[in-house]
Amino acid sequence: MAPAAPSVLLLTCLVLLLGRASPAAEEYGLEITNNGPITTGAQATIHASLSMKNDSVASNLYHFNWIYAPLILIEKSEQRFNSVINVTGEFPGTFPVSVWVTHRNCWLCRPVARNVTVLQITEFITGNLTIAQIEDNRVITHGSSSSMGAVTRISFCLHDPSHYFKSASFVYNWDFGDGVYQITKEPFVYYNCSTMGNRTVHLKVIAEWEQIGSVIHEREMVQKTGDFTTALELLDAVKSIHVVGSRETHVMENLSLSLHINGTPPLALCWLIKSECIPLEGEKCHLVVINGSCYNLSHTFSDAGQYCLSVRVENGVTMLQTYHEIKVWPTGIHPAFFVLLCIALVSVMLGLVLYTTFRSNTQQKDLVEVADFDFSPLSDKKLSSHSESGCGQICCGSCFLQSSQEAARESHELLRSFYKPVKMYTV
Ligand SMILES: *[C@@H]1O[C@H](CO)[C@@H](O)[C@H](O)[C@H]1NC(C)=O
Ligand SMILES: *[C@@H]1O[C@H](CO)[C@@H](O)[C@H](O)[C@H]1NC(C)=O
Ligand SMILES: *[C@@H]1O[C@H](CO)[C@@H](O)[C@H](O)[C@H]1NC(C)=O
Ligand SMILES: *[C@@H]1O[C@H](CO)[C@@H](O)[C@H](O)[C@H]1NC(C)=O
Ligand SMILES: *[C@@H]1O[C@H](CO)[C@@H](O)[C@H](O)[C@H]1NC(C)=O
Ligand SMILES: *[C@@H]1O[C@H](CO)[C@@H](O)[C@H](O)[C@H]1NC(C)=O
Ligand SMILES: *[C@@H]1O[C@H](CO)[C@@H](O)[C@H](O)[C@H]1NC(C)=O
Ligand SMILES: *[C@@H]1O[C@H](CO)[C@@H](O)[C@H](O)[C@H]1NC(C)=O
Ligand SMILES: *[C@@H]1O[C@H](CO)[C@@H](O)[C@H](O)[C@H]1NC(C)=O
Repeated sequence: MAPAAPSVLLLTCLVLLLGRASPAAEEYGLEITNNGPITTGAQATIHASLSMKNDSVASNLYHFNWIYAPLILIEKSEQRFNSVINVTGEFPGTFPVSVWVTHRNCWLCRPVARNVTVLQITEFITGNLTIAQIEDNRVITHGSSSSMGAVTRISFCLHDPSHYFKSASFVYNWDFGDGVYQITKEPFVYYNCSTMGNRTVHLKVIAEWEQIGSVIHEREMVQKTGDFTTALELLDAVKSIHVVGSRETHVMENLSLSLHINGTPPLALCWLIKSECIPLEGEKCHLVVINGSCYNLSHTFSDAGQYCLSVRVENGVTMLQTYHEIKVWPTGIHPAFFVLLCIALVSVMLGLVLYTTFRSNTQQKDLVEVADFDFSPLSDKKLSSHSESGCGQICCGSCFLQSSQEAARESHELLRSFYKPVKMYTV
């Protein structure tokens, strides 16, 4: 079998070169897949499927040519545009299996399409380890991280497409990397993660079964093993997110917010400011990886309106979202400002009304006094009445002035108190 390999490779090269030179290859697609890796002695299925871009050639008949040596062919089947072979191998290694397709009536013509797949054969058991976390009786599958304090299920998934191990009995030896060992007959364990950190979980799988020996035809025990390793990262779940900062700001003002996160770093934080609150799932957001538990962000709004800051925090174990609504006012204009304006206006009007009534009163008095004057030789009174009227004018003027000043001061104070919190947040 071994001396056949170089000639096979040569042939494969030849086929590939021939195929490369063929312009017809563009019109066809040839997909080839295998269901490996497999254990030595087990079977692998290799599937080839021809597709064509121009339907006018679909009426032709095709022939599939396989090169699989040194693997042993178990079965071959061919339909119009598909071909499937089952092969087995006695030795571990990586084996290229190639296929090329020719027109059925023209074997020596250039192939219309060709492709190659690589089959992995190992002397060990094949499969993989998966980690799932049990939360509230729900199974949540994770990459390799789990939150501490929760129950984690580690399972072994055997990859045996040809049911080679159907009569085998398995024993699983688990090593959790923290001095805890366990031997089970089931392909999974429940592991109570109690300490935070990284660890490596090792599993040794032993499969044993009885078979009739090929040499002396006697019953013999066959054993195969497999070693599997998975990294388990125990993290703390993200428990909370607090947004500290104002819920109000003005256009073109720098709004600063602090995000405080309770969870083990590194944390992947993603934030987005939009007109409405949205769950950030696959949504474009500003992604930052933070090492600490605090993140400061500042934002300047160019338009007034209602906004929402959506925040998502992940640490590989858990994901948490929160929202913070923000009201953005136009620059310097605020309903409170209008209220102040009204107050000022009303004060002015009140002052004016007071002034006019007071003035009309004094004028009436003046007339009476002026009537008196005609019979009095003293012209002092006229002066005094004038001064009185002047006083009234001054008084009302000062009253008016005072009230308007007061209004102005009041409005200023109100404005100040209104601006105060904003100023506080812009620090
Ligand atoms: C060869 O097969 C692979 C796997 O099916 C496929 O992705 C690839 O497109 C194929 N190549 C050609 C030239 O058809
Ligand atoms: C399909 O093949 C026919 C015959 O070979 C040819 O006349 C036609 O132009 C081809 N169509 C396309 C879309 O390539
Ligand atoms: C070939 O493989 C397929 C799929 O793995 C299986 O259904 C079929 O029984 C196999 N054929 C033989 C002869 O073992
Ligand atoms: C583990 O095995 C399952 C089943 O064979 C397969 O679907 C999955 O992709 C494998 N995962 C990895 C990481 O190899
Ligand atoms: C996991 O361990 C913690 C502390 O060691 C214990 O409080 C908890 O009950 C355990 N959970 C299970 C399901 O064994
Ligand atoms: C755990 O492993 C991950 C990646 O495998 C690494 O980023 C992280 O820093 C490790 N943590 C500790 C505490 O070693
Ligand atoms: C907003 O303020 C923060 C700190 O308070 C500063 O780092 C940032 O550069 C400011 N941004 C703008 C656009 O002024
Ligand atoms: C976060 O910590 C890792 C290692 O602890 C370091 O390599 C990385 O530079 C740090 N990133 C920042 C933004 O501080
Ligand atoms: C966030 O801002 C506060 C004060 O506003 C400061 O004390 C803190 O160090 C800042 N944090 C970061 C991560 O920049």
